[in-house]
Amino acid sequence: MQHLVAPSLLAANFLRLEQDVLMVNDSHADLFHVDVMDGHFVPNISFGFSIIKQIKSIARKPLDVHLMISNPDQYLKAFKDAGADWLSVHYETCPHLHRSIQQIKELGMKAGVVINPHNNVELLQGILPHVDYVLLMSVNPGFGGQSFIESTYGRIRTLKEMKKQLNPDLLIEVDGGVDTLNAAKLVKKGADIIVAGSAVFQSANPLDTIKRLKYLT
Ligand code: DX5
Ligand code: ZN
Repeated sequence: MQHLVAPSLLAANFLRLEQDVLMVNDSHADLFHVDVMDGHFVPNISFGFSIIKQIKSIARKPLDVHLMISNPDQYLKAFKDAGADWLSVHYETCPHLHRSIQQIKELGMKAGVVINPHNNVELLQGILPHVDYVLLMSVNPGFGGQSFIESTYGRIRTLKEMKKQLNPDLLIEVDGGVDTLNAAKLVKKGADIIVAGSAVFQSANPLDTIKRLKYLT
C-alpha cells in the first residue's frame, strides 16, 4: 500500500484557516490530522467542536481526529457529530479501552489507539485485533515543532511484527517531528500514515512539501 500523508492543522495559520484547508484539499495529502488538546491530559489547549465543524464544512478529505484529552469516552459522539471520520484515543486515557474502541466503531468511524513514547508497544497486544490503526507518538504529545524521538524506528519495527500476527490490516501512523528528511525511513520501517505539521505549514511551499512527503525518493 502506498503510504498516506496527513498534514496536521495544528501548525496551520488560524487567521487564514480556510486557505490552509483549501490548500490541503488541492494537495497530494490523504487526510487532515486534527489535534484536540484539553490542557489536562497534555499541557496545551488547541481547539474544539466548533472549529472542527467549520473545517469539515470545506474539507474534501477525511478528518483524522487525534484526541489528547482526559475522559474521551464522554465526547466520542460529539466528535462524530462535529465531523470526525477517523478517531483515536490515547492508551493512557482509557481504562476501558476495548469499550471505547467499540463505541468509536459503532459510531461509524475508523478507530485508532495512540501510545506515548515512553510506553512499550507490547501493551497494545490485547487491543490490536480490534483497532483500525495505531498512532505511535514520536514526540511527547502537546505541541507541534518538537524533535523526532529516534527510538520510534524500533517501536515501528516491533509493532510491525505484532501486526503480522494479530491484525494484518492494521495501519501504523507516526506523529511528531516528521519531515522530508526522516519520512522515507519511517515508511521503509513500516509507517503507513505520516503526520506532519510544522514541516508542511512552516515550509516555503506547503503544496510541494506535501508532494515530497507523498512521493518519497
Ligand atoms: C503533537 C501532535 C502532532 C503535532 C505534530 O502533540 O499530536 O500532531 O501537530 O506537529 P509536528 O509535525 O510539527 O511535530
Ligand atoms: Zn497528532
